[in-house]
Amino acid sequence: MLSLKNIILIGFMGVGKGSVAREVIKHSNYMTMDTDDLIESIENKKIKKIFIEDGETHFRNLEKDVATWLEYSVKNTLISTGGGFYKQKNLKKIGTVVLLDSPFDKIIKRIKNHPNAFKKLKKRPLLQNLEEAKKLYDERRPEYLALADIIIDVTKKSVLECSKELLKKVKNNA
Ligand code: S3P
Repeated sequence: MLSLKNIILIGFMGVGKGSVAREVIKHSNYMTMDTDDLIESIENKKIKKIFIEDGETHFRNLEKDVATWLEYSVKNTLISTGGGFYKQKNLKKIGTVVLLDSPFDKIIKRIKNHPNAFKKLKKRPLLQNLEEAKKLYDERRPEYLALADIIIDVTKKSVLECSKELLKKVKNNA
């Protein structure tokens, strides 16, 4: 089988990393996995519970362990990440970094319009206070932009359009 360089999907909470990843694998030979899912299975606990019971520092340490494992053990995979995972020092060694970008208000609107909006908001500890979340967004956005090999503006695009754009840009970037 053709060996594919991993794609590491970064971006703010709720921007649609998981949805785009699931669409991309329908149209390519990539596998997909999600760093939050890996952490939940390692700990056998939901992210929210990890934040409450063990604290954010513990969660960030788990992200670091996952990043090390991904670098050495995973290939041919589109890895979607939690919104803070981009801080991993070895991020670029894991794969091509693709940013899903969107203005803060559009991200919130996207979550609120989702049929499972309540659940989507509730499961994210750092989205409980929207004023704080906006501050976090403003802090992170320049860092996301600086790290990205590829940027996809997801505003006004369907998940399918985003996934096609991603595959095209990854191909051109190879
Ligand atoms: C976080 C984003 C979350 C999750 C955790 C922390 C962050 O993932 O990893 O709640 O720091 O932005 P999503 O980006 O999938 O919501």
